[in-house]
Amino acid sequence: MSHDYIPSYLNPNDLGPWGQYLQQVDRVAPHLGSLSRWVETLKRPKRILTVDVPIERDDGTIAHYEGYRVQHNLSRGPGKGGVRFHQDVTLSEVMALSAWMSVKNAAVNVPYGGAKGGIRVDPSTLSKGELQRLTRRYTSEISMLIGPTKDIPAPDVNTNEQVMAWMMDSYAMIEGNLSTGVVTGKPISLGGSLGRREATGRGVFVVGQEAAARRGVALAGARIAIQGFGNVGGTAATIFADAGAKIVAVQDHTGTIVREDGLDVAQLHKHVAEAGGVKGFPGADATLDRDAFWDIESDILIPAALERQITADVAARLKTKIILEGANGPTTPEADDILADKDVLVVPDVLANAGGVTVSYFEWVQDFSSFFWTEDEINARLTRIMQSAFGAVWDVAQEKKVSLRTATFIVACTRILQAREVRGLYP
Ligand SMILES: NC(=O)c1ccc[n+]([C@@H]2O[C@H](COP(=O)([O-])OP(=O)(O)OC[C@H]3O[C@@H](n4cnc5c(N)ncnc54)[C@H](O)[C@@H]3O)[C@@H](O)[C@H]2O)c1
Repeated sequence: MSHDYIPSYLNPNDLGPWGQYLQQVDRVAPHLGSLSRWVETLKRPKRILTVDVPIERDDGTIAHYEGYRVQHNLSRGPGKGGVRFHQDVTLSEVMALSAWMSVKNAAVNVPYGGAKGGIRVDPSTLSKGELQRLTRRYTSEISMLIGPTKDIPAPDVNTNEQVMAWMMDSYAMIEGNLSTGVVTGKPISLGGSLGRREATGRGVFVVGQEAAARRGVALAGARIAIQGFGNVGGTAATIFADAGAKIVAVQDHTGTIVREDGLDVAQLHKHVAEAGGVKGFPGADATLDRDAFWDIESDILIPAALERQITADVAARLKTKIILEGANGPTTPEADDILADKDVLVVPDVLANAGGVTVSYFEWVQDFSSFFWTEDEINARLTRIMQSAFGAVWDVAQEKKVSLRTATFIVACTRILQAREVRGLYP
């Protein structure tokens, strides 16, 4: 597979997650018909901002961190995408995450383009005050790009409602007016939406139900293994367990735990809140080595941590029927091919984890009208959107005999490029 265009600011020998995204685009290009003349637009982010984020540490020293905001495509609406605080954040990663947001937003047909942000920092090394200063300075540095009708950040790995509240307040101080719609995933007391915290995990569950029904897997008693027990993995675990499934294994950054009869998810949440991770959970049968997680037999595997976890080697070992990608980019293109050969059904990130941005969209709409919906209304609308997006993608996959990932890209890229074509090129 050839990529004609490699930007000068990436390492051509290791494109990182952006290279993974480019390979996915190459797979959709043959299915775009006359729109394929626009496909190059998907292979370039529209806009990249790199910022230096200096803060004064509690001990009086000055620390500098590298921050980004990338707007991949704004053809269908303002930018939308999370902000990640992690020590391994790179430009390539933020670029890929912004592009996956473009695809995701188009796949569920919410009126947004794709964007993403991040700071290369391990937030566990910062005090609460330092984290607040970092967040505020970052917001100020990217403030020329964001805004309720320009680009709307949200939480991602290691960012949460508190971080969103600081971002909103910083933006309000700079602009001189209170714009709750500048970020989503806010606390309920500040214009946040009911159901937003659980939305991504709930969406993973909804597509899981659809996939399981089509694969003839009964959710009651189904064996589920989950990597990542944060917002996405932890919520998915709760909802699947409530539906009668057995969470037989959970891995996070602290360790890997298993229980044949299914872990007590409520107790595990309590343990993680106190201990900071799943390690040492007394309700587990055993603790496994990190790598042994991939040998656990399951009906459904949910990667809900970081990207590029399911490599070709891992894919060859997996014993599961369905993969629900809660995380963004967990499966490499080589692994995708192996999983297709093994007849493992992969529900891709750009569909499976779109519940979060769907309820972020509801939050943004509620903020504009200052009129708030009930949690039941929100969950019902979320379920409807996820079911209908899954059904449309499923039909395309059947018709074109392609994976659900390529089918999602076909549906989404067609919407993005149609918008591009009808808008025309400026000037
Ligand atoms: N929060 C959202 O609404 C949302 C929406 C769509 C997609 N996502 C994606 O879901 C994934 C998880 O996001 P989150 O919001 O749940 O983050 P989070 O910070 O709440 O949780 C991350 C989890 O991953 C685990 N983890 C980190 N490094 C790991 C490693 N090396 N091995 C195993 N586990 C590891 C952590 O221990 C933690 O349990 C990310 O890929 C994110 O982009 C999140």
